[in-house]
Amino acid sequence: MDLVFNAIADGLAEEGYAVVDQFLSQEEVNAILELDEFRNGLTQFKKAGIGKSQQHQINESIRGDYIQWLDKNTAPASVKIYLDRLNDLILFLNQSLYLSLKDSEVHMTIYPAGSFYKRHLDQFKKDDHRKLSVICYLNHDWKEEHGGQLRIYLKDETKDFLPVAGRLICFRSDQLEHEVLLANRERLSLTGWMLDQHTDIR
Ligand code: OGA
Ligand code: MN
Repeated sequence: MDLVFNAIADGLAEEGYAVVDQFLSQEEVNAILELDEFRNGLTQFKKAGIGKSQQHQINESIRGDYIQWLDKNTAPASVKIYLDRLNDLILFLNQSLYLSLKDSEVHMTIYPAGSFYKRHLDQFKKDDHRKLSVICYLNHDWKEEHGGQLRIYLKDETKDFLPVAGRLICFRSDQLEHEVLLANRERLSLTGWMLDQHTDIR
């Protein structure tokens, strides 16, 4: 994992984002796909909204994904492996980039075929505690024609990444605008944020 962690730290330091493959092995991805939540699909998930608490609203024309938050105390073993690895990554980034990340929050995500998430930033307000966005994809055999790319907006260009199984994308939540292009096939991921505050005091 050291090489992978190093690549993430370098990417964040030099470009503000990093893309690495095999953050989860194909076997680790399969174990997560076996979970009832993903097998039962949308029945156990909630429609994702935009904005926090009072401002929370569902807007189909902005985002069409469904989510379910993970609880690290009760998470099944296959998910715990991922959450523990994120925790190791937090410790690594704190040391190598002098960050003061304290915790993470992660949800399971399903984009049904035909859905997308329009261009946005993950941090809406200055007092947001989300520092890094971290997404790990769970889709075997994802091809260009399936769409669903994560598009990131850099200064003079955009870059698109396919949501292939085991790939992790990490970027500065307050700086990098991004969108999820229309997916023609169901698109699964674990979506999370590294925070500069513990989740239990939020
Ligand atoms: C998000 C998001 C990107 C992706 O959930 O805020 O931008 O590739 N996800 O799933
Ligand atoms: Mn986002």
